[in-house]
Order: sequence, then structure tokens, then C-alpha cells
Amino acid sequence: MPDGAPHLAGRDDAVARAGPRVVLGVGGGIAAYKACELLRRLIEAGHDVRVVPTGSALRFVGEPTWAALSGHPVTSEVWDDAHDVPHVRIGREADLVLVAPATADLLSRAAHGRADDLLTATLLTARCPVAYAPAMHTEMWQHPATQANVATLRSRGALVVEPATGRLTGADSGPGRLPEPDELAELARLLLERGTAGASLDLAGRSVVVSAGGTREHLDPVRFLGNRSSGRQGYALARAAVSRGARVTLVAANVASPDPAGASVVPVVSAADLRAAVHAAAVDADAVVMAAAVADFRPATCTETKIKKAGSPSAPVLALEHTPDVLTELAGERRRPGQVIVGFAAETGDDSGSVLEHGATKLARKGADLLVVNEVGPGKGFESPDNEAVVLGADGTRTPVPYGSKESLAHVVWDLVAQRLA
Ligand code: CTP
Repeated sequence: MPDGAPHLAGRDDAVARAGPRVVLGVGGGIAAYKACELLRRLIEAGHDVRVVPTGSALRFVGEPTWAALSGHPVTSEVWDDAHDVPHVRIGREADLVLVAPATADLLSRAAHGRADDLLTATLLTARCPVAYAPAMHTEMWQHPATQANVATLRSRGALVVEPATGRLTGADSGPGRLPEPDELAELARLLLERGTAGASLDLAGRSVVVSAGGTREHLDPVRFLGNRSSGRQGYALARAAVSRGARVTLVAANVASPDPAGASVVPVVSAADLRAAVHAAAVDADAVVMAAAVADFRPATCTETKIKKAGSPSAPVLALEHTPDVLTELAGERRRPGQVIVGFAAETGDDSGSVLEHGATKLARKGADLLVVNEVGPGKGFESPDNEAVVLGADGTRTPVPYGSKESLAHVVWDLVAQRLA
């Protein structure tokens, strides 16, 4: 664009998308560059995205980039295009406002109801769901002032997700990273699907633990006994819980997927690691959902060196031992008052009983409040994006969940958990 081109750029008239209207608010932090990728994902998902950066954000990424990617004019001031009253219109017309990155300064201005630029004015006029993805240095995030601002925004019905933990701008690392753009776009999709009801943040103030994936029990440094769990169901549960306002700890056993935005991920390998991580996180949790496929048996010994084929006249015989049942422990002696404990059971029917009969016996044996029972078979359960299940309640309820996405099943589980917590 030549020097002296008008400040407002874009193709507002040419772009009339039918998709939901999303305002992408961009705060003045280095992670603003990641918001370009997020913007692309939102546009690719068919959303009509209006970018509203702060003046500081424009020092990191310039207005032509936002305008070209969004197809809309971009400004941070309330004075541009005043005849159109943008400081009121943009917020009112939005189906979702997503602020990413939300800096400490922006969270402070939003919490105090300031309206000193177009983004803060938009936050005051929006009546749709508003979500913030904070990103800043760990010290700034953990400062009581920032935490108080976050608590204020949450108390007013906004979703403020926890920042990711990892490498920050310099050599330091800790909580304060912006979650990955793909995962933020996924969060936006979930929020748009849940709609405008403030009640959709029905897990706000709740802390939940989800286990996902499949454990590996090593025989030696290179071999293990494992299982086919992909972790998809547990990850869908974690994403759904974040979108409903919960603070989520995701104990992930050998899952290759990216971390869901807002979830605190604890990677584990074995059943013993998983047990320690789940019990630690469950201490102050309102609900624990055990979606992980945890090994029932592990090799009685794990050699420090590789078991060699050469020189072994016959194949080795593996001695196995039982692993502790984490779900039974959580539902029994480890249970915190009021905690809701949920298990999963992948079953096949046999001569001794049907899938649901086996499920009901397991629910009683483990002492959980809810057991999600699904039949294992082609296209169902393991490694499939879809699932079909019946959720059995210890109170005798049966909730059938028709064949559909693991995300729909996740929402049914959280509906039932939310009912029990209420
Ligand atoms: N589970 C657990 N700890 C274990 C094994 C399983 O917490 N050591 C949990 C799983 O996460 C799941 C539930 O228990 O939520 C049911 O797992 P499943 O393997 O179906 O139960 P089992 O008791 O092993 O039953 P089965 O005899 O059918 O193998």
C-alpha cells in the first residue's frame, strides 16, 4: 500500500459472510502475531470476523495485515467512521467477542469498565459471550492485581481461560503463553455452538480433572504393553469443560494431540504416573472424569536394559501384576465430599451378560456416580471421532447418547455432572 493511503482499509462492502459474527479483540502483546493465525482459522471456519486491535497491538502487527486477512476495515479508535457509531455497533452485532491475546493492561481496563478505545467500548456494548485468552509474563499473570481483574471479569459472566504454560518471549518459561491458534479457534466454535445464554458457563468456578489416552507399561526401555486409546474422548471432555467455564486439569497418557486451550495438561506414561497425577489434581476438584484407558496389569518387573532375543533359546514368559484401580480409589476412600466421580467402560456383550448388564455391574463395583458405557466395535469407541453410549447413574438413571461426535457425548457428561454438582 502506498504511503499516505487512508487509515481505514479493507473490503467491507465486498464481504458479506453468512457465518456468525466474531469480534477478534487483539491486545498489545507479542502474541498478537499468533492472532493472525487465529484470524485465518476463524475465517476458514466461515465466521465473519471483525478485528479490533488496541493501539499497542498495532505496534506489533499493523492494520493492513488485519484488514487484508479479515476483509474489514480496522481501527483501534472510536473517532474513525464516527457516522457509523462503531463503538456501539460492533459489540451489539457480535455473536462472540474473543480477545486474544488479552494483556494485563487490557484485562485491567476491561475489569474497570473503561471505554477509552474501540475495543474496551466494544466490550461494554457486547451482549454475546465474551472470552479472553490472556498472554503475558508469568509475574504479571500471577500478580494479585491481575488475578483480581480476572476474578471480576469471571464474576460478570466472561470466560477467561487459563494461559498455557511454556516458553515465553525471552528465555524464560512458565504460565503466560497464548494457547495455540487452532485450539482457540476450536474454543470459539464451541462457544458459538453453545449460544448466548449466560447459563452456558454452568461450570464456572468449578475445578475438574479429566484423564485421557492410554497408559504404557514398560517391559524394558524400548517395549511396553499399551492399548488403542487415542485420547480423543478425554480431549473432547476437556475442551467442552473449558468452554463451560471450568478450570480443567487434563492428565494425558501418551496423547499426540495439541493441548486444548485453557486446560492445564499433565503428561503421564504409566498407570502409576497417571494414578499419582490424578490423585494430586483431585484433591481440590469438584469432579473427576476417568476417560483414560488405564492398564489393568503391568509387567512385574521392568528391566533397565533391553531384553535381547539373541542368546534366549525360548521366548520369555511375562509375569504380570495388577495395577491399583484409580476410579475405585477416587470413588471410595479418596472421595472428597460432594465430588462427582465419572468412569468410562468399553464393553462387549458375552454369554454372561449384555453390554449394559456388564456396565451396571461395573458401576456398582467401582462406586462411581456415573459410568459412560459404550459398546466396542467397528467405527465405535477406540480411534473413532464418533461414539455412541449410555450413561448409567448410581441413582438408577439411564441416559442414552445417540451415535454422534465425542464432543456431543462430552456435553452430555458435563450436563449430568453439572446437575449433580447443583
Ligand atoms: N480404571 C482405573 N484404574 C485402572 C483401570 C481402570 O481408574 N487400573 C478406570 C478407567 O479409567 C475407566 C474405568 O476404570 O474409567 C473402567 O475401566 P475398565 O477397564 O472397563 O474396568 P475394569 O475394572 O478393568 O473392567 P474389566 O474387567 O471389564 O476389564
